[in-house]
Amino acid sequence: MKEATLNPDRLPRHVGIIMDGNGRWARKNKLKIAMGHRAGTEALREIIRNSSDIGIEALSLYAFSTENWARPKPEVDALMSLLLEFFRSEIDELHQKNVRIRILGEKDALPPQQRLALIAAETRTFDNTGLKLNIAINYGSRAELARAARLLAREVAEGIRLPDSVDEAAVAGLLYTAGLPDVDLLIRTSGEMRLSNFMLWQCAYAEFVFPKKLWPDFTLEDYHLCLAEYQTRSRRYGKREEE
Ligand code: IPE
Ligand code: IPE
Ligand code: MG
Repeated sequence: MKEATLNPDRLPRHVGIIMDGNGRWARKNKLKIAMGHRAGTEALREIIRNSSDIGIEALSLYAFSTENWARPKPEVDALMSLLLEFFRSEIDELHQKNVRIRILGEKDALPPQQRLALIAAETRTFDNTGLKLNIAINYGSRAELARAARLLAREVAEGIRLPDSVDEAAVAGLLYTAGLPDVDLLIRTSGEMRLSNFMLWQCAYAEFVFPKKLWPDFTLEDYHLCLAEYQTRSRRYGKREEE
């Protein structure tokens, strides 16, 4: 296995991960789909721990999209159970590691047990100052942007905001990611090269890396290779590169 050499001074501040490939992993290993998702949560633990250890500021993980409700009910149920299990088993350690958990997405549409566990995790870790761990659940970037527009429209209608004050900062401030830096590095596993409605606004200038491995096979070494790849990129933000 190739070892990545990382420059600790050039780590991305915000890493986004689209954890894709659980279904194909299950099929490849002749297992039920739920086992693929379970294997996916194992891969997740290490990446979260390590991100906290190496000093990544924010990590955003795509766990369940607004479109994923359209999957067969047994699969959705399995994902919801795993979600609960994950929070119950990890919350103590994450809290101990000073991790601040934030849920991106519409919690109201989730089953009550899940909703309460997510709210409890957010409340308990609210004052933590370590890794900002964002988990996108029932998240869709278009829904997030529409929600921001709705909140702004309401403020204008109530007379507490002037239409001309609606600028980029005003929109960003009403996204689930308010106060966080933009995504610097976006990783999507399994070889798919699309955003699937993940952080369209926040990824405006993100660097993209598309490792071929399926999410349950994605190791810490693979993660570090992505971080190393990020460190080779030249980020110009539309400007002329310095001579
Ligand atoms: C990603 O794995 C996990 C979720 C979408 C919840 P998939 O289940 O999408 O895996 P593939 O794409 O079918 O292999
Ligand atoms: C995106 O993956 C959602 C998550 C990883 C949670 P999907 O597997 O749902 O996306 P598509 O359908 O391949 O675009
Ligand atoms: Mg998929």
